Amino acid sequence: MTRLEHLAALLGEAPPELRPGHVWLVGAGPGDPSKLTLEALAGLAQAELLVHDELVDPRILALAPEGAERLFMGKRGGRPSAKQADIIAELVAAARAGRRVVRLKGGDPYVFGRGGEEALALAGAGIPCRVVPGLTAGLAGLAAAGIPATLRGVSQAVTLATAHAAEGAPDALDWAALARFGQPIVLYMAMRRLEAVVESLLSGGLPGETPAAVVRAATTPDQAVLEATLATLSGAVRAAGMEGPAVVVVGGIVSARKVLGNYGF
Ligand SMILES: C[S@@+](CC[C@H](N)C(=O)[O-])C[C@H]1O[C@@H](n2cnc3c(N)ncnc32)[C@H](O)[C@@H]1O
Repeated sequence: MTRLEHLAALLGEAPPELRPGHVWLVGAGPGDPSKLTLEALAGLAQAELLVHDELVDPRILALAPEGAERLFMGKRGGRPSAKQADIIAELVAAARAGRRVVRLKGGDPYVFGRGGEEALALAGAGIPCRVVPGLTAGLAGLAAAGIPATLRGVSQAVTLATAHAAEGAPDALDWAALARFGQPIVLYMAMRRLEAVVESLLSGGLPGETPAAVVRAATTPDQAVLEATLATLSGAVRAAGMEGPAVVVVGGIVSARKVLGNYGF
């Protein structure tokens, strides 16, 4: 059976068709191929051009047909990376040339991955596009570490935020308001600004003893979890020499790890 026939058997119907001239904006999940959705697999199996980010596992890239063109056009934190305008131009040109295009992004394409911008640009250019959600690192990373994203009796909300403002833009986040909100916070792209972020939350009134954790490279063989308190977090991360990609979680939900830690993966 081909991959598509397998999928059809699983889905109980023909998998959705990636048509010539269409783009699928696909979430690859947090890392391990086991976290890929069936719909993402269907897109990959039909791709003629695969435009992907840096954090995508080679085993996922290998799911596209052998003859498909694979083009790395991602962002590399702090290093030269493809310009957003060039990525969009590539997607538009390939779709207009009648190719079946998959734009593959880590996690979920609409969560801190600039997928929203790309979809808006495609819509502006009149290119048909299907968005295929993926498992976002902020939620999968917590599950991997044995931390429930919400927990009745402990929290009533969870904030997904990034410490990384748009290029040239000031940090628009009101950290003191987040601290006052008192509900768990899951931070993306926060490692390089960790000290400043922790300082803002502390001076905003979040108690230093608030449980906190960092989940690095969730779902990959490099996965590592560090647990601390808000007050000790930056020092512990520095001492451990821990680097991204990582999500930082601050809030009472982290304590559940004492019981649920072994339920992670
Ligand atoms: C540009 S954002 C993309 C987020 C992605 N769209 C998502 O939904 O997960 C990149 C950030 O996601 C987080 N991240 C991505 N993969 C991760 C992983 N496997 N483990 C922990 N954090 C990860 C890190 O905070 C990283 O700096």
